[in-house]
Amino acid sequence: MHNSSPIEVHADSEALAAGVVARLLAYANQVVNVHGRFTIALSGGKTPRRCYELLKDASAEWSLWHVYFCDERCLPAGHPERNDVLAKSVWLDRVAIPAGQVHSIPAHLGPERAAERYEPQVAHVDSFDLVLLGLGEDGHTASLFPENLALNSRAWVVPVHDAPKPPPERVTLGLRTLNRARRKWFLVTGSDKAQALNAIWRGAPLPAARVHGAQWHVDRAAWEVRKGVILPGAEDNAS
Ligand code: 6PG
Repeated sequence: MHNSSPIEVHADSEALAAGVVARLLAYANQVVNVHGRFTIALSGGKTPRRCYELLKDASAEWSLWHVYFCDERCLPAGHPERNDVLAKSVWLDRVAIPAGQVHSIPAHLGPERAAERYEPQVAHVDSFDLVLLGLGEDGHTASLFPENLALNSRAWVVPVHDAPKPPPERVTLGLRTLNRARRKWFLVTGSDKAQALNAIWRGAPLPAARVHGAQWHVDRAAWEVRKGVILPGAEDNAS
């Protein structure tokens, strides 16, 4: 990532969620007006939850939204820790998006079979209008973890083993797929993300930094301590 990449600093996580949702709705509307459909890939974790809650009460052309996932944890269908369960329970099941337009990753089949089944669906989309991404404390994004084999795959959808964040088996969109998206937005909140964010901003080759041309929505807690300690291996080239 380059230091010149766009970054928007929000006062706190609540302001970030409100700002991101407003931009998301405006962008989706614009895309729908031009293309008659809007394709988005979602992430899991704690950070996007508030956005999903706000989207539940928003008005949009839901029937034209097509929802995919950036990654999924290999857990049984309906498991409370699955990323699709979070998004469905707080948002997708409560708006008028046709169920057939919510494309869960069949991660209960295990990494290889699930990736194989999801691949044609993602290839069919070709380029997502938007991917919503999170940042892990170790610099991972989606289920692309530092030094994990999945990072080097050229596949659209990639099986993941040995993930340090549980569960160890996952499925993720490949870097190539994320990079093809028309827009990539990272949502990063809280001081526990400051070190990774700082390292990326200073040029550390962490997985999230390999998503190019992204827009970073961060809150002050994640951003204000950017002059603090940096991860080993990161170049300290910030002024
Ligand atoms: C997952 C993710 C993952 C997440 C980051 C940040 O399955 O957990 O999709 O990439 O976005 O780990 O997670 P938090 O928002 O919980 O910090």
